[in-house]
Amino acid sequence: MLAFIGGTGLTRMENLKILQRHDITTRFGKPSAPVLEGELDGQRVLFLARHGDPHVLLPHQVNYRANLVALKEAGATAIVAANAVGGITADAPTGALVLPDQIIDYTYGRDMTLFDDPAEPLVHVDFSWPFDGALRNALKEKLAETELSWTDGGCYAATQGPRLETAAEILRLERDGCDIVGMTGMPEAVLARELALPYAMLSLVVNPAAGKSTHEITMAEIEAVIHDGMASVCLLLADFARD
Ligand code: HPA
Repeated sequence: MLAFIGGTGLTRMENLKILQRHDITTRFGKPSAPVLEGELDGQRVLFLARHGDPHVLLPHQVNYRANLVALKEAGATAIVAANAVGGITADAPTGALVLPDQIIDYTYGRDMTLFDDPAEPLVHVDFSWPFDGALRNALKEKLAETELSWTDGGCYAATQGPRLETAAEILRLERDGCDIVGMTGMPEAVLARELALPYAMLSLVVNPAAGKSTHEITMAEIEAVIHDGMASVCLLLADFARD
């Protein structure tokens, strides 16, 4: 069963007809919210609000391990995660969707593996290509049918937050080869890999990253873009679930 993780601006999927709430407690504790099982355009899917419902958890407070394990226990076989990001390069203008194909992890102090039990065999998972190719291709096909502005590929910088970056930090990320910056992609992506769950990310660019515009970055500016952008993401995901 396909699962969606909704980020900022996607706490609820208005088009999801909820059939069941899975109130799961994992060995890592409780996920951000109950895993919702429902129908999206007639297709059975799972949905989890990454920051809780209502949105209360900051990116570094999210229990990513519980979220991913709960999705697996609820029957997820693949995950598409939506998130809001800042745009660094010209390939990531505000309002566009990016389907990243790489990640650099700048987070720290987060629980970033499921293999923390010395009694269990340790596995070093291959993470050369953090996103699932087949899932990305399927998303690309759907995006190509829309009028939305989107970019195939790009490197996602996962920063710790909750503050936004300095202009110098963004220049460094750009020199490192990053196109977009967000606070939630890691460890979410690697935990999906550790669970052998195909995972892809759909990133909505909601602001030019620090130093990339002449204005201060305000929540009002971000929220204006998120409102329409996430509505498009919801429609796209419904369309994606159907095929
Ligand atoms: N930086 C980090 N995370 C973000 C940003 C940003 O500019 N915008 C939305 N999430």
